[in-house]
Amino acid sequence: MNWMNVEETLRRAEAPLFWVGAFTVASLALWLLYRLLSGFRIWVLGNGQLLSPKLGKWAVVTGATDGIGKSYAEELARRGFAVMLISRSQDKLDDVAKSLEPPVHPRSKGVVLNISSASGMYPVPLLTVYSSTKAFVDFFSRGLQEEYRRQGIIIQSVLPFFVATKMTRIRKPTLDKPTPERYVAAELATVGLQGQTNGYFPHAVMGWLTTKLVPIDLVIFFGAAMNRLQRTGYLRRKMLREQRNGDSLKND
Ligand SMILES: NC(=O)c1ccc[n+]([C@@H]2O[C@H](COP(=O)([O-])OP(=O)(O)OC[C@H]3O[C@@H](n4cnc5c(N)ncnc54)[C@H](OP(=O)(O)O)[C@@H]3O)[C@@H](O)[C@H]2O)c1
Repeated sequence: MNWMNVEETLRRAEAPLFWVGAFTVASLALWLLYRLLSGFRIWVLGNGQLLSPKLGKWAVVTGATDGIGKSYAEELARRGFAVMLISRSQDKLDDVAKSLEPPVHPRSKGVVLNISSASGMYPVPLLTVYSSTKAFVDFFSRGLQEEYRRQGIIIQSVLPFFVATKMTRIRKPTLDKPTPERYVAAELATVGLQGQTNGYFPHAVMGWLTTKLVPIDLVIFFGAAMNRLQRTGYLRRKMLREQRNGDSLKND
């Protein structure tokens, strides 16, 4: 092939390549615009108005006597929902039920918010059972949502990262580890907009980074490293506690 032929081939390819490039840039720009607009719709405008008893009287809240569940129950009752409370301790259930208004009326429509976890988005070593069951909750909820969509029942899968509750023993809330009240207020604005949600903008960014940007093997590796570190710290503290207790028994 001589130079003339190369030039001729390149000249012929110029127009198709231009259109491939233009199409790619236009698709990427449209995709980015769509993501920005839907992000704005979810995280800035929200869907706060949707979650009212007009949708149906009922909300079912599991783990409703502490932490995230309790905040949901309180907020939904404040909005006028009849709330079905589920947890183990009858006395705690009675206390929460007494504090909620208005009274219950047993309707076929409603909202089910299933609390999965960000740990269900990928395997988390050393929290393997927790992570797996949370993945189950996520799949289960998303499947049910499709089955019940026609009946007007909303079933949402909620995948929080850390929230400052009894379970996590986080005493000082931060931007990425909010109070349950703050988390729930943000999460409720996503109902009806997202079947699966991290529920809170900083958590959505973390979810996006860990599932879309960072390779899954790296996420699993760092998850394992973080949990090993935590386990080593816990075992060291436990050993020191036991040594201290042993010493004080000897002195007695
Ligand atoms: N906090 C976080 O950072 C975080 C992050 C991701 C996901 N989550 C998930 O969010 C949910 C709530 O966590 P939380 O931090 O709010 O916990 P929490 O403050 O410890 O509250 C747990 C609630 O669940 C009830 N409960 C516990 N075991 C139960 C059982 N076997 N059956 C029925 N109810 C039960 C407890 O009441 P009784 O003791 O009276 O039963 C309590 O009302 C959990 O599913 C957790 O995995 C939490």
